[in-house]
Amino acid sequence: TWESVPQAPPDVIFQLTAAYKADKYEKKVNLGVGAYRDNDGKPWVLPSVKKAQAILLNDDTVDHEYLSITGLPEFVASAAKLILGKDSAATSEGRVTSVQTISGTGANHLAAVFLARFYDWSRAGGEKKIYISNPTWANHKAIFNAAGIEPVDYPYYDAKTVGLDFEGFTGALKSAPNRSVFLLHACAHNPTGVDPTKEQWGAISDIFLAKGHMAFFDCAYQGFASGSLDADAFAVRHFVAQKNIPLLICQSFAKNAGLYGERVGALHVVSASKKQEAAVKSQLSVIQRAEISNPPAFGARVVSLILNDNALWEQWNKDVKFMAERIIDMRKQLHSLLTEKHKTPAPGGNWDHILKQIGMFSYLGLTPKQVKYIVDEGHIYMTGNSRISMAGLNTHNVAYVAEVIDKAART
Ligand code: LMR
Repeated sequence: TWESVPQAPPDVIFQLTAAYKADKYEKKVNLGVGAYRDNDGKPWVLPSVKKAQAILLNDDTVDHEYLSITGLPEFVASAAKLILGKDSAATSEGRVTSVQTISGTGANHLAAVFLARFYDWSRAGGEKKIYISNPTWANHKAIFNAAGIEPVDYPYYDAKTVGLDFEGFTGALKSAPNRSVFLLHACAHNPTGVDPTKEQWGAISDIFLAKGHMAFFDCAYQGFASGSLDADAFAVRHFVAQKNIPLLICQSFAKNAGLYGERVGALHVVSASKKQEAAVKSQLSVIQRAEISNPPAFGARVVSLILNDNALWEQWNKDVKFMAERIIDMRKQLHSLLTEKHKTPAPGGNWDHILKQIGMFSYLGLTPKQVKYIVDEGHIYMTGNSRISMAGLNTHNVAYVAEVIDKAART
């Protein structure tokens, strides 16, 4: 029956994890998938999460009934508050529809299906298109293609400066048809770690306003960029404060709560009025029912407890800061080894981009040949675009990684 099914290529990110696991080399390092590791290279269950889990496991009122189609109400309400801020006018005016999703991927997918069905494409150039940064998270293209929306690249990363191509980015915003949909990484851009400055976000939002563009925010790293949950919500809150920019936010708790496998996330759609909010919610419910019926409960309960209990909330803020600071420290160590110890030739003239880039990833700016050397000779797993997950570095392996990068850069 299935003779005509062609073999699909493996996933670019998860195949690295599989290859790393199968590798017997003693000094192997996994800098592929964006998942936090402690200084011994082990997954880390956040202390705040451990405490919340213990509370749930001892609570006899917690059962395994279905959640409602749109998820756990106290989770989605507090998740909205986390990204939009405590005093968000959009929330108090009842203009925010929040639905629990299968983490960030599910939020992106639900939003894509919703847009494909209900966005007024006739007033947005006539074709179902979403503009995505070049480069972007490897899964974005697949998600939009699957929903029948064509992903189109906009310039973002400048290989010459190993930084933001601001002119190219704003040029694309200006030349796209009015009311186009643009995907923005809320903070800690994946894969480059290159974010616009506050001033640049201001200029970008002005163009959104002038052109009537829709902002499709993907927010998978709140807290990871700066260590502060509020500071990392700047771009989203700034856009929401402009009032007339239509927008939605895909929110993941995989990274900042370390709940990767529990699939905890939410989609928040900010409407112009309360009336639209209700209609949007009804349609998201219809889509969600057909696809997953209702989202998983446990992880959402954990996050909801953390967001609604003072002591857990404070602990979580510390946990997020701890992860962000360990990553920042690894940036400093790798930078110093490459510049001071090895004096490694750098793309763009120096290695300062390792310090400037923020969040889980650093984009080294190496060529595919150099990356191949690092993977094949060093058994250091990373994506072909020279992205490394900083969280995979630790005080035991950073010297080895720097040594191999140095050799690769000289090949
Ligand atoms: C990554 O980019 O490595 C993570 O977001 C994991 C994933 O799902 O790809």
